[in-house]
Order: sequence, then C-alpha cells, then structure tokens
Amino acid sequence: MRMYDLIEKKKQGLALAKTEIEQMIADYTSGRIPDYQMSAMMMAICFQGMNAEETLHLTLAMRDSGTVLDLSAISGIKVDKHSTGGVGDKTSLVLAPMIAALGIPVAKMSGRGLGHTGGTIDKLECFPGFTTGLSKERFIQNVNQIKLAIMGQTADLAPADKKLYALRDVTATVNQMSLIASSIMSKKLAAGADAIVLDVKTGSGAFMQQEADAFALAKEMVRIGNGAGKRTRAVITDMDQPLGFAVGNALEVKEAILSLNGQGPKDLMEVVYALGAQMVLLAQKAETREEAEALLKETIASGAALNKLAEFVKAQDGDAHGVFHPQELPGANVILEVKNTQNGYVSRILAEEIGLASLLLGGGRETKESEIDLGVGILLKKKRGDRVADGETLAVVYANEMEQAIKAYAKVVKAYEIGAYAGETLMIKGIVDENCI
Ligand code: URA
Repeated sequence: MRMYDLIEKKKQGLALAKTEIEQMIADYTSGRIPDYQMSAMMMAICFQGMNAEETLHLTLAMRDSGTVLDLSAISGIKVDKHSTGGVGDKTSLVLAPMIAALGIPVAKMSGRGLGHTGGTIDKLECFPGFTTGLSKERFIQNVNQIKLAIMGQTADLAPADKKLYALRDVTATVNQMSLIASSIMSKKLAAGADAIVLDVKTGSGAFMQQEADAFALAKEMVRIGNGAGKRTRAVITDMDQPLGFAVGNALEVKEAILSLNGQGPKDLMEVVYALGAQMVLLAQKAETREEAEALLKETIASGAALNKLAEFVKAQDGDAHGVFHPQELPGANVILEVKNTQNGYVSRILAEEIGLASLLLGGGRETKESEIDLGVGILLKKKRGDRVADGETLAVVYANEMEQAIKAYAKVVKAYEIGAYAGETLMIKGIVDENCI
C-alpha cells in the first residue's frame, strides 16, 4: 500500500477499504507516513467525505492505536457520558454522584479544559489535594468500592487521534463530520465503558452551532458506538447561552453543589435529568424515562448524591470540606457588576463571549501549559427570557486583577442582547437512539 495511491483514491471520491485505513493509521502513528501526506488525505476527506463503514473503520483503528481500557473487573454496566463541550457545563459534576448514588458504576476518563470551555478535572481541583492521577488498579478499586472514580486521560489513549487532531488543527481540516465523530468516539471507546450517552451541544457556544449539524454529528456518533458493539445514545441540548448561571471553575463547583442540594438552575437540571435518564436506562436500572428521572430526583432529595460527591473527593485524596462549606472554595478579590442600560428582555447571551470573558480573567487555558485561576469567572444574574430594567445587574465579574476585570466586563456587555420580546428556550432538542439512525 502506497500512501500516494490512497490519497489519489480518496481524491477521486472512492471508499477506502478496512485494511487500507488500518494500515494508514498504524503507519501514521508510528511515523512511517509523514504529516504532509496525512494532511493531503485529511483535505481529500474534507472534500469527498467518508461513508459510514469507512468512518467506523477509522474510529476502530484509532481506538486500537493505544491501550483500550479493560474495565471487566468492575461489576455492573458501566455507562459513560461525554459532552461535546460548552460554556458553564458542569453537568458531569452533578450527574456523576447522582448516578453513582444509584449503585451504577461511573468509571470516567476526563480531560482538562482548553480554550473557552472548562474541563471537569480543572473544576475538581478546587478541592485541595484532589488528584486524577490514579493508577489503573486504584481507579478500578475505587469504582468497585464507592461506584465513582475519575481519571485523567492517559497519553496512550488513542494516540493516533492525538497526532491526527493536532495536524487537523493546523491544516483547516477539523470541521468534517466523519473526522469529528471518529475522533471523539475513538477516545470514548478506548475508555472501556459498556454503554455511552453523548451530550451533543448546539448554539452559539457549541462546536456545532446549527441544530441540523448537531443532529448529524449525533447520528454519526451513535452509529459508530453501536457499530462498535456499545449501546450508544445522544441527547441534543441547547448551548445558545451558558448552562446555569456560573461560568468559571470554583463558581461552577459551587453551582454543582447547590444543584445537589436541590437548588440547581432549571436549564442545568433539565439537561442533567435528560442525560441521567438515558444513563439509568442503559444501565438497566429503570424501564421508563419517568421511572429513571424519579430515581435520580430521589438521590438529591435524600442527600445521597451530595454525600457521594464528598466520598468521591476524599477517595481521590481531596479535602471534602468544601462540599459542605462551598463558600470556602476559591474566590476572587475584584467584583464588578455589569449593569443593563435599557428596558426589555434578554433575547440572547452569546455563550462563546462569556466563555472568552472567563478565559481573559485567567479561568481557562490559552495553551496546554497555561496555569488557571480557579476563583475567577462570571456569574450571570439574568438569563434568556428574563425581563430587565435599566440599571439592573445582568452579571457579576469575579476577577483577581482589575485590568482583566475591565476587559472581561466589556465582553460580558457584548454577550448580552436585549430585545422587545421574551424568547423561549427549548433545552432538549431531541434524542438520537439506536432506532433513529
Ligand atoms: N473534539 C474532538 O475530540 N475531536 C474533534 O475532532 C473535534 C472535537
């Protein structure tokens, strides 16, 4: 097999065979295929696309380029959840302890945040001492004992995707449906769960800004997951404004704790219950969505989910004091209120602008090496559809430096659009399951 011939074949719009894809990925991972040839292939795929079979073969080849986690030593059906990323998305922090409190094992690999969306690991590091650098043995032991463990993504998880994603990032070839779907799913499948629930976001703060694209990506990923023998479903959710009120690491942890105390924002809890119900159904702990939601609600009412969060933080060397005293989690010195200057209704909050404001404050990473400030961020006081009067506070900026606070303030002002009518927000746009593809 010559890479030149494969590029020519794809350029002509022909489908690559399973063995050709497998060989290409193995050779690229080991350095036998140079970046310039792989770039040409990625660009050919952008123009000609890949069919469902090719996409599945590409995913499996990338999954198998490194270690595939064997979680068979954990009893029960392991259901993983993945979000395509959004601003203020603290769903995992709320949902993981709820699911674990139901006795369903949560063995999760999470990433750090890059750019304007935060990562679950960064948020959890608000608890002093908390670590995700667990050995595989300790990870499995913790899940067996308390039903919940979160581990950082290991370097040998789908290394082909890591190399390919970095290449796509600098060759304008990220934005192709089969490439995105295979990239995400190769890592999810390598993480070893028995079933997968995907949260595919759509709107101004999402990777897929158009709803039709989000559905298409969801279908592609659900097809791949089920094709790989793992029951997979996707929920398409709104990211046209930040999720909940809090954006920023400690602010989001505080909101997650509030949610586990039964005082979660409506939009966040809608997403939590929609995703959670699918996880409970796939874990075979309920037969209907209503039954699954009732079980989830009980974990909050009884305090079991909050206690599970504390148990989990302790099990990963963290100080769980903040779970019960969230006011003692990291904070900020500079507090600026963003004032509204006209009467009307909040018609839009550009999620990406709010995410960028938090990034400016030091709450996110510009590069992989950046240090993040856990205490900074934005707390929204008004959400879409809310009536606002002239002079009312729209949001509060939490900063540690005045200069950054002023720059973030300007971004928050730009993010808010005030109109004459209250718009409606439909949080759950749809569900793609095995029968919908
Ligand atoms: N996230 C990924 O992991 N891969 C992509 O290609 C796009 C988003």
